[in-house]
Amino acid sequence: MVDEHARNPTANVVTADDDSIVEAARLLIAGELVAFPTETVYGLGGDATNDRAVAGIFDAKGRPRFNPLIVHFPGADAARAQVVFDRRADSLAARFWPGPLTLVLPRRPDSTVSLLASAGLDSLAVRVPNHPVARALLAACGRPLAAPSANASGKISPTTAEHVARSLGSRVALILDGGRCPVGIESTVVDLTGASPVLLRPGGVTAEELEDAIGPLGTAAADAAGALKSPGLLISHYAPDLPLRLDAREVRANEALLAFGPTPAAGAERAAAVLNLSRRGDLIEAAANLFSHLRALDASGAATIAVMPVPRAGLGEAINDRLERAAAPRP
Ligand code: TXA
Ligand code: MG
Repeated sequence: MVDEHARNPTANVVTADDDSIVEAARLLIAGELVAFPTETVYGLGGDATNDRAVAGIFDAKGRPRFNPLIVHFPGADAARAQVVFDRRADSLAARFWPGPLTLVLPRRPDSTVSLLASAGLDSLAVRVPNHPVARALLAACGRPLAAPSANASGKISPTTAEHVARSLGSRVALILDGGRCPVGIESTVVDLTGASPVLLRPGGVTAEELEDAIGPLGTAAADAAGALKSPGLLISHYAPDLPLRLDAREVRANEALLAFGPTPAAGAERAAAVLNLSRRGDLIEAAANLFSHLRALDASGAATIAVMPVPRAGLGEAINDRLERAAAPRP
């Protein structure tokens, strides 16, 4: 008998059944990552309300920057608790959920979903999948799951558990094998945060089907001067109101300090406010804290946010990418 473990000793593949789904839910609630099948592709799931779990997803995928993630819900009502629906969202959800459609909607101010899942944006991508294993898992763990496609960054999306094992095997606590994904391409992503709906990514629901429901769609490329394909670049990311001063070794007058590591920058006691991304110097913890700390320091009343150097290893690359963009001159 050839099993996944023999071929790939680090992979933790189990057939999805009642018992393994309960175990997967237990792992997710404990902050671990679980890969699971959806009707489109396999997702790399983590508790969307747990900053560290969401940071772990970026770490496992090796993403060089924080692209926002899709958050999965057991039903539209659970999604409504996190984002603001309008009439277009109501009709799309009624027609295509559960199914391969993702809606980008404004976050509710009281949303409990990690800011890192939104990559610091004021919007959130939400979806109700239509796969029995995904639905059973969402019901069992009782919380929203952030889940990008379960492949290493830049690789092809996985449509079997074996693809996941080969790409991410040792990086996940468990891989639920639910067979081949029936749709096989990712969900359609529609941005409903603006006056006209914009197709960000073609996918399992066609543009014709969408237009039939809500009228003409714009395309992201047509809307953006630079015609960039990545939504992460198209949409103006949250940038702090305050200017950022990077690689700060000391704190100057009227500065708040975003610290990293055990030793605060010189003069930290004079800072208007100090928050540490990770006292232990742990990059996963730092990523988990990045957006919430930036927002808090932005509201501190200081004139500038001084940011201590963050190493570029692992998630440090994405953290530095985000900090550099936040520090760039404003348009
Ligand atoms: O079919 C799918 O959608 C799969 C399964 C697992 O559900 N998930 C998936 O996720 O493909 P991912 O992370 O590989 O792709 C998410 C896409 C990206 O293009 C991302 O930029 C976009 O959705 N996206 C997510 N949140 C967004 C937001 N707030 N604003 C704009 N685009 C967003
Ligand atoms: Mg992907």
